[in-house]
Amino acid sequence: MNIIETKNISYHYPDGTPALHNVNFKVEEGSKVALLGANGAGKSTLFLHFNGIIKPSKGTIFVDGDEVKYDKKTLLKIRQKLGIVFQNPDDQLIAPTVKEDVAYGPLNIGLPNNEINERVKESLKSVGLEGVERKAPHQLSGGEKKKVAIAGILAMQPKIMVLDEPTAGLDPKGASQIMKLLYELNQKGITIVISTHDVDMVPLYASKVYIMSKGTIIKEGSPQEIFKDATTIRDANLRLPRIAHLMEILNKKNGLSSCKPPYPLTIGEARRRVLEQNLI
Ligand SMILES: Nc1ncnc2c1ncn2[C@@H]1O[C@H](COP(=O)(O)OP(=O)(O)OP(=O)(O)O)[C@@H](O)[C@H]1O
Ligand SMILES: [Mg+2]
Repeated sequence: MNIIETKNISYHYPDGTPALHNVNFKVEEGSKVALLGANGAGKSTLFLHFNGIIKPSKGTIFVDGDEVKYDKKTLLKIRQKLGIVFQNPDDQLIAPTVKEDVAYGPLNIGLPNNEINERVKESLKSVGLEGVERKAPHQLSGGEKKKVAIAGILAMQPKIMVLDEPTAGLDPKGASQIMKLLYELNQKGITIVISTHDVDMVPLYASKVYIMSKGTIIKEGSPQEIFKDATTIRDANLRLPRIAHLMEILNKKNGLSSCKPPYPLTIGEARRRVLEQNLI
């Protein structure tokens, strides 16, 4: 079943900028989906449609079987199921302290105090941030703010998590920690959708990938299907994962048979390929 489905949505910003054109984006329940696209491709605009922050100029959106409508009751129901972590944490963090910020959602749905406290503690621990509960969000670094924003959505325990560039601005350890957390949440049945420019991470993480360019979905498929078409990837101002690019160079320049397409997309795959052919 598709837990998110957009049917032919198009969107123009109020100033007339066309941002989306006939987008059909489907997310299977329980899957891990990555949306790739250059700056300005329309990723954030698409995500803001999922919980009704933006209303399409044309087309419809379904979340968990319900059509997204714009009355208070429907929006509340959808926003409890689908949590969005915005690209810019400053758009998300509104409370005077980190603790109050993470507690904001659970408090709003009327959970008892002990449950709220437990969720705040657990969520901050999951993102690797402890001991900052009393700080004001503006006293945190960019990466720390991002983690608090993720914790705030985690505390709501949504069925679907949509994260707009979750690892942008995080250090390598922080980024791995967040991706590991998303993997674990997905193992527990939560559907995860991310946007990213990190093409090296995509094959490690995603079961399905969409490529967006100039407001249109230009390709969808498994990471293998997506990255075997290097021309489309490059035309969309993206690149192959570094390891695939290296294999491409070795194949073209040196004719190394172990490096023939389809190119390995991860270091693990490359290692297996090379070992199978007794090259090292
Ligand atoms: N508030 C706005 N008003 C007018 N145009 C906007 C607004 N926000 C975004 N746009 C335009 O809509 C298009 C899509 O922008 P969007 O932010 O969705 O891209 P993106 O894929 O998320 O890019 P990035 O990778 O830089 O985050 C761009 O052309 C952008 O200039
Ligand atoms: Mg964006």
